[in-house]
Amino acid sequence: MAIVLYQEAFDNSSRFKRRIEDERWIAFAQAAWPQTTIHGADPLRRGVRSGGMRAKGHQYLDRHHRPEIDSFYHLSKASIAGRACQGTACFVARHLDPQRWHDAASQSPRVYCLGKCYAAPASTAEEARPAIEIRCRQGIVLNRIVAGGARTLEAYTRQGGYQALEQALGQPPEKLVQRIEISGLRGLGGAGFPAGRKWRSVLEAPASQKFVVANFDEGDPGAYVDRFLVEDDPHCLIEAMIIAAYTVGAQKGWIYIRNEYPQAEAILRAALAEARRERLLGDHVLNREFSFDLEIHVGRGSYVCGEESALLNSLEGKRPDVRARPPFPAQHGLWGFPTLVHNVETLANIPWIIQHGGEAFQRLGFSRSRGNKVVSLNSLFERPGLYEVEFGVPVRHIVEDLGGGLKTGTLKGVIIGGPLAGIVPPHLLDTPLGFEELHAIHASVGHGGVIAFDEHTSIPDLVHHIFSFGAYESCGKCTPCRLGGRRVEQIFQHILDRGSAAPTEETEWVEILSALRLTSLCGLGTGLAEFAETVRLYYAKELERCFA
Ligand SMILES: Cc1cc2nc3c(=O)[nH]c(=O)nc-3n(C[C@H](O)[C@H](O)[C@H](O)COP(=O)(O)O)c2cc1C
Ligand code: SF4
Repeated sequence: MAIVLYQEAFDNSSRFKRRIEDERWIAFAQAAWPQTTIHGADPLRRGVRSGGMRAKGHQYLDRHHRPEIDSFYHLSKASIAGRACQGTACFVARHLDPQRWHDAASQSPRVYCLGKCYAAPASTAEEARPAIEIRCRQGIVLNRIVAGGARTLEAYTRQGGYQALEQALGQPPEKLVQRIEISGLRGLGGAGFPAGRKWRSVLEAPASQKFVVANFDEGDPGAYVDRFLVEDDPHCLIEAMIIAAYTVGAQKGWIYIRNEYPQAEAILRAALAEARRERLLGDHVLNREFSFDLEIHVGRGSYVCGEESALLNSLEGKRPDVRARPPFPAQHGLWGFPTLVHNVETLANIPWIIQHGGEAFQRLGFSRSRGNKVVSLNSLFERPGLYEVEFGVPVRHIVEDLGGGLKTGTLKGVIIGGPLAGIVPPHLLDTPLGFEELHAIHASVGHGGVIAFDEHTSIPDLVHHIFSFGAYESCGKCTPCRLGGRRVEQIFQHILDRGSAAPTEETEWVEILSALRLTSLCGLGTGLAEFAETVRLYYAKELERCFA
């Protein structure tokens, strides 16, 4: 039986279609339609789609909507309109609006993080904007945003946009990779992996196709920098992805965007249409030999889809389990091809580095953390908002000088880099903001969310909240994460209900933490253990009372 499959994507402004010869797609189609000739996708379907297929006499089959996979996603069918947020920034601010928190905590499915942590406890109706400031020697990613933003192509080019792309297209890829290597830029999505090493791996991987993926899932409660980078400066992400694709030799890219950011999605779609109209995307980018196009994929409410290998499975239309590594996405990514996956903020640094040189970037920051980081402060601060700071500033500067301390209450701790990271207690606030420096005190830079909490949040309350989040979002592949997370949530529920837990439960929780640390396949499981480790280290007295 001859099989001809086409993958296609189209929106109101363009349509592209390419023949698929990947044997996994063919196997998928054969399983779906045994004994049938398969001849491609229906070109008349409306909206943006990819990965769909139609066989003669059969209905269109969309690889992204299959019941057994839909059930993985919390927001597969649910609308988020009118919903309140249940993320950690909203949890620690629940005393500010108990009714809203009650609504958030009692809704199903849960909604974790609307990117409005500066106004927590937040709901989708919240329209306020945070403070956005550059508080360092040299602004990089917030420059256009503090000057009023650049949502249109005209505004972006007026402020120097796409000059970096022109510059990059005139240079050999090797030179561009060297520039990124010299800069010392590290991934700002959480792992802090050197960007230059990743670019070189993808560039040097021999393959017929390569891909670039922007991770715009921004799932860490407390983080909202990517949201504003895209809403206020969407072309910067597009320009960075075109430069990255040209450098590593990719023909196609995806932006994986979080479902909870509908405004960012609309802005990005409009910007992509503008870029295609001006031949910045599509065949022969700016009349060069190089062709590249970008597609948007909207997530459906799963935190673990921010983990890069789960994200790739999600893009492929598979159940988004985390993949075992090696091989890493740079060698074996989307459909097995070398794939460059980067966080939005990491990518936002690229045009600046291309224009100003790797050395200029390298001169900023300190130690092994070069350049700047945007931190996002939650609503308990006197001045919540987004601040671009240079790596190396003490955490105290962020908390006291930028945030202005807490609006009310006494600072009990700061959770930096999302709920799956260690707490920085008040006596360690002089630790510099740096990957290794925070790691040394069992904390992390993560994606730069800074959630302060005060005496309204007890330690058992916080542990219960974080493990409840972890258990809800676990992909389920590792037993300690799938079952252990839920068990710790139960133990702390007992503590909250009865005032303390049995000594056997203390042994159990310590054993679960050890299993999480040693056997988890991804940062969700190890992050739960890291968080708990700092609770045991820095809040031992309060914890002792839980197991009395
Ligand atoms: C559970 C989990 C969730 C994650 N969520 C995100 C996310 O929402 N956005 C992101 O950029 N990286 C996230 N990451 C990190 C990614 O796996 C990956 O390291 C990152 O996208 C690589 O880009 P970077 O090198 O630019 O940081 C997550 C990791 C884990 C373990
Ligand atoms: S640690 Fe948890 S989320 Fe990560 S792969 Fe294992 S089960 Fe999945």
